[in-house]
Amino acid sequence: MKLFLDTASVTEIRTMWELGILDGVTTNPSLVAKEGRRFEEVLREICAVGVPSVSAEVVGTAADQMIVEGRHLRGIHPSIYVKCPMTPDGLKATKVLAAEGTRVNMTLVFSANQALLAAKVGAAYVSPFIGRLDDQSEDGMELVREIVTIYRNYHVKTEILVASVRHPVHVLEAAKLGADIATMPFAVMDKLVHHPLTDIGLARFLKDWEKVPKA
Ligand code: E4P
Repeated sequence: MKLFLDTASVTEIRTMWELGILDGVTTNPSLVAKEGRRFEEVLREICAVGVPSVSAEVVGTAADQMIVEGRHLRGIHPSIYVKCPMTPDGLKATKVLAAEGTRVNMTLVFSANQALLAAKVGAAYVSPFIGRLDDQSEDGMELVREIVTIYRNYHVKTEILVASVRHPVHVLEAAKLGADIATMPFAVMDKLVHHPLTDIGLARFLKDWEKVPKA
């Protein structure tokens, strides 16, 4: 499963990229706003890190606006995937952009039927937001399970990008279900790296090593 960071922080992206575990980045208007910098400037810096997939979201709500923005965004760097929201206009825009060869990440997906439609218009990624479903007492992971089943039934090429991930168990469950990608905040990816027994084990090995004659 590919691991993406859900952030617009270039520092966070560089840190995980250097570990060799990062496959991509997703941004959204809220994450970009947190950086307090111009969108395009941040986007160019993120792409310059070398991450092969960087999702950048349109903010227009009409299909023609999304198409213009999408064309502009994809022209910024070859790694860019254009994020379009799952709305009637988002579907129209995705159909046009995908036909032109732009890779679209269809975002704000909360039902399996929406995921079916995203695939139909040629989205490269579909992004079910599981944490936000969990937040309102729905089972986000159940949605991922449904999408995996449906996409397998019809040999759909759209990749399932599990979004709105809140903790490592979300990542684990998504991997067990066979989702293609999970995107997560820096803190969640960092937790995937660490285990207290690794630290304790290493400290013990190093302590014992001190007792080994060196000459
Ligand atoms: C994905 O592309 C979104 O940016 C993101 O996962 C949303 O997560 P949130 O629900 O934590 O804001």
